[in-house]
Parts: sequence; structure tokens; C-alpha cells
Amino acid sequence: MARETKGSIWMNGEFVAYEDAKIHVLSHVVHYGSSVFEGIRAYATPEGTAVFRLDKHVERLLDSCKIARLDCPYGYDELFEAMKGTVRKNGGEACYIRPVVYRGFKSLGVNPTGVPVDVAIATLNWGKYLGQDALDKGIAVRVSSWRRAAPDTFPFLAKTGANYLNSQLIKLEAVTDGYEEGIALDVFGFVAEGSGENIFLVRNGVLSTPTLGSAILPGITRDSIMTLAQDMGLTVREEQIPREALYIADEVFFTGTAAEITPITTIDRLPIGDGKVGPVTKRLQKAFFDVIEGRERDRHGWLFPVEARAKVQRAARKAS
Ligand SMILES: Cc1ncc(COP(=O)(O)O)c(C=O)c1O
Repeated sequence: MARETKGSIWMNGEFVAYEDAKIHVLSHVVHYGSSVFEGIRAYATPEGTAVFRLDKHVERLLDSCKIARLDCPYGYDELFEAMKGTVRKNGGEACYIRPVVYRGFKSLGVNPTGVPVDVAIATLNWGKYLGQDALDKGIAVRVSSWRRAAPDTFPFLAKTGANYLNSQLIKLEAVTDGYEEGIALDVFGFVAEGSGENIFLVRNGVLSTPTLGSAILPGITRDSIMTLAQDMGLTVREEQIPREALYIADEVFFTGTAAEITPITTIDRLPIGDGKVGPVTKRLQKAFFDVIEGRERDRHGWLFPVEARAKVQRAARKAS
């Protein structure tokens, strides 16, 4: 069994050993994808491990629950503390945090009324999602033949397990055809996003990214990049983006918790700009990594220390 984590998994308020974190095969979620989840990163900073935008991730998890009509038994504060607690319990180091809220085991009818809602939080040792090379040199992607679903079919503002069959098909098609990732169009043919990333285009120094109406996840990295770009005085537009705008952009890049800021250097085998990582992408990548790795002041309050500040400072004093 691939083992991407170690230590304990938080399940319904208790820490359970990795091997024992099991659910019944007849759980509702196994059959109907009835879950919502988050992907969050904790980074190593000079002041200790800190979770990136934990507040926004907990908010989005609860928003997803509301949209999916999942009655989460834990509130904001409990989930917030449980996520930090799980990182601490598993060694307090940089990691990827995966909370999931899901319908459990009671009855197998599609109607979930009365089925318990369970919560688990794991930490994983995920390095760079598409590899360090992808971050440095960029990746080759294709426009997928799979589209995002129409509005009023699947709720793309929610990060639900069920939505990710669409993402799996996009990713599998791309990888099978020799690309690193795929870009989905929305039902109207406008650019939506990658299988697990939001997308930005740069043309003549202006950034554009699809609107929330194009069946995209409201990405927290997307929001962070929009803020950093505005800090740099760049114009950022949220707009409907026709497919062909991809081909004539000067630069294109993906954003996401897993993918961070990944440059795209070819789409459908056409070079984007000069086919190399562009200067705006590089500047934004640097600004992003400077904040999350603690080299730049956290002026937007994005980093949430896993240990109480005083404890981190005491440990740092002891070590010096
Ligand atoms: C479909 C999809 N779009 C976008 C994103 C990026 O969102 P975030 O930056 O919040 O990780 C993700 C990653 O979770 C995703 O799965």
C-alpha cells in the first residue's frame, strides 16, 4: 500500500493510528461520492511551521458542506484547531493537510437522511505536486475533450468528492496523451481550469482569469495571486476567456495548493509566448514563495503558526 503519511489521523475528534483509520465498504460516500474536502499546505518558515490561509480553507470547507447539504458536526473553531492539532501530533513539520467530511455508514439508499456525517483529517508528505522541474521549467498541457458540467448540474463552488470524477477524466486523458495536465472548458466553451488548478493568462502585462461563473473552484491560491499581482500594480481581470486566448497569451500559469504556481509553456503543442517561463510568472512565483517560506513579511496575515508564537520563539532561542 502506498503510504503517503505517517502517525495519526484525526477521526471524529480522536486520533487514530494510520492503520486503523478505516470506514465500512457500505458507507454512503463510497457509492455516491458524498464528501467534501480540502487540500491545505503547512510550510516551514524561520518562525516554525505555519499553515497557509487556514482560515479561508476552513471557511471553504464549511461553505462546501452547506452547498452539499452535509451537516458537519464540527464548527469553524473546532475544525481550525483540529487541523493545527493534527499537524502537531504528526511531528509539526511542513506537510499537506487533507480534511474530509463524508456521509458514513447506516443505509445505502441515495437519500442520505439519517446517515451520519463523519470527519477525518490526515497529513501527507506531498512534495511538489507536478515536480520541481514543473515549477522551474513549466509544463505541457492540452485542452481537454472533457468539459466542466453546466451550471445547475454540479456545484463547482463546492469542493465535493463527486466533482472529481470530471477532474480524474481530464487528468487521465492528458497524461495518457503525453501531457502533464489538461485544461477544461466550461459548457459554453470558455476556459475554466485545470483538473486541480485555477488558470491565469498574461497578455501585454495584464492578468486575466476565468470568473466564478465558468464552473471553477474559488481557489485560495488564485485569490492570493490576484492580491500579490495587485500589490505589484498589475491589472487583474476576472472574465470569460475564449479558448484561443490561451494560444496567443504571452504567459499562462496554473495556481493551486498542490501545484502552487506552475508555468505552462505549451498548450496543444503550441508554444506560449517564446515557450519559456515568462517574467510575470517568475515575479509572482517569487513573491508567493517569499511569503509562504517566511522570507517576506506576511503583510496579509496568511500564515497561521502551528505552535503558539511564544513557544516557537522559546524553541528558537534555545536552539541559538
Ligand atoms: C478543481 C480545482 N480547481 C482549483 C484548485 C485550486 O484551489 P486552491 O488554490 O484553493 O488549492 C483546486 C485545488 O484544490 C482544484 O481541485
